[in-house]
Amino acid sequence: MTEIMTLQNVSVHFPVRGALPFLRKGEIQAVSDVSLSIHRGEIFGIVGESGCGKTTLASAMVGMIKPTAGQVLFEGVDLNRLPRDEFKKMRRRMQMIFQDPFSSLNPRFNVYQIVSEPMLIRGEDDEETMKARVVELLELVGLSSQDLYRYPSDFSGGQRQRLGIARAISLNPSFLVCDEPVSALDVSIHAQILNLLLELQEKLNLTYVFISHNLADVKKMCDHLAVMYLGKVMEAGNSDKIFANPMHPYTQALIAAILDIDFSEEREIIVLPGDTPSPINPPSGCRFWQRCPKAMRGCREVPPEYVEVEPDHFVACHLVNGFPDQELPEGYDQPMVPREKVPGR
Ligand SMILES: Nc1ncnc2c1ncn2[C@@H]1O[C@H](COP(=O)(O)OP(=O)(O)OP(=O)(O)O)[C@@H](O)[C@H]1O
Ligand SMILES: [Mg+2]
Repeated sequence: MTEIMTLQNVSVHFPVRGALPFLRKGEIQAVSDVSLSIHRGEIFGIVGESGCGKTTLASAMVGMIKPTAGQVLFEGVDLNRLPRDEFKKMRRRMQMIFQDPFSSLNPRFNVYQIVSEPMLIRGEDDEETMKARVVELLELVGLSSQDLYRYPSDFSGGQRQRLGIARAISLNPSFLVCDEPVSALDVSIHAQILNLLLELQEKLNLTYVFISHNLADVKKMCDHLAVMYLGKVMEAGNSDKIFANPMHPYTQALIAAILDIDFSEEREIIVLPGDTPSPINPPSGCRFWQRCPKAMRGCREVPPEYVEVEPDHFVACHLVNGFPDQELPEGYDQPMVPREKVPGR
């Protein structure tokens, strides 16, 4: 399989400004040193708690955010080094679907205007071609030509998401980021939209990045996945391998919390103490150590390396990979029991 998207050591930091706009108080490390590759025709999941950097990472993939460091290669071409015109052309082949279909659709535009807008901006088609294309797109997503002059407020949440999808695929993209596409929808509609995405992927030969909090959806949809925590990838690789054998304590906790997957064996619900720390001053060492039920003293100081532990399965955890060969703090392999207090922020 060929790679369609490759990230090489991508970091995205946002400045935090003080009371005076020119005073920088620090930076939010939304994404830190992420490397991964996505293959053509697959569904690649990104999971992790709110604020861990999923949307930021996906925005960097489609060129909506310029990374602070690292490279984003789409079909082997560095997006951020393209001349403006070529960047624009390339950008059309990558689209994004958002969580909330209502706020991402202009309420004053009718269906025809919404779906045809990307074509209008591209400026290559006449009115008649655009109309025919919009009707074709509506039918593809399960709406009809009768909806052409209706407004977003006339539709249900699920229908609005269909509309968002029609708009996103209007320019024949090959790479589509679905950012929490169903989390705002009722459970019954939820499955319909996921099935629609699967159908379209097959028909149109699309590659998806599928962002979700919901691991059950990720399990259903994804070929590969990356588990993020505070801007870092903790575990990534083949989805079946990760679900069968999650190695990072964070992934283990996430998977243990899925209620609607039938596990034949008895299992333990792992409750992670505390909240996600701030990405402004992320913890030293492993970013997860403060909440990790298995943390050792060394985890606090030594950042784990990201290692391929079996083919197509990567983990960044000292428990799995052992500590690197360097000067290590005293008692580095002792468990942190009794739990040491998480420092205040
Ligand atoms: N434009 C921005 N300016 C400043 N900080 C930002 C910006 N966008 C995101 N952040 C911060 O970066 C971090 C990662 O945000 P991001 O939206 O990528 O998380 P997420 O994983 O998509 O979360 P959610 O699941 O809630 O959508 C957060 O701390 C967020 O506050
Ligand atoms: Mg998000």
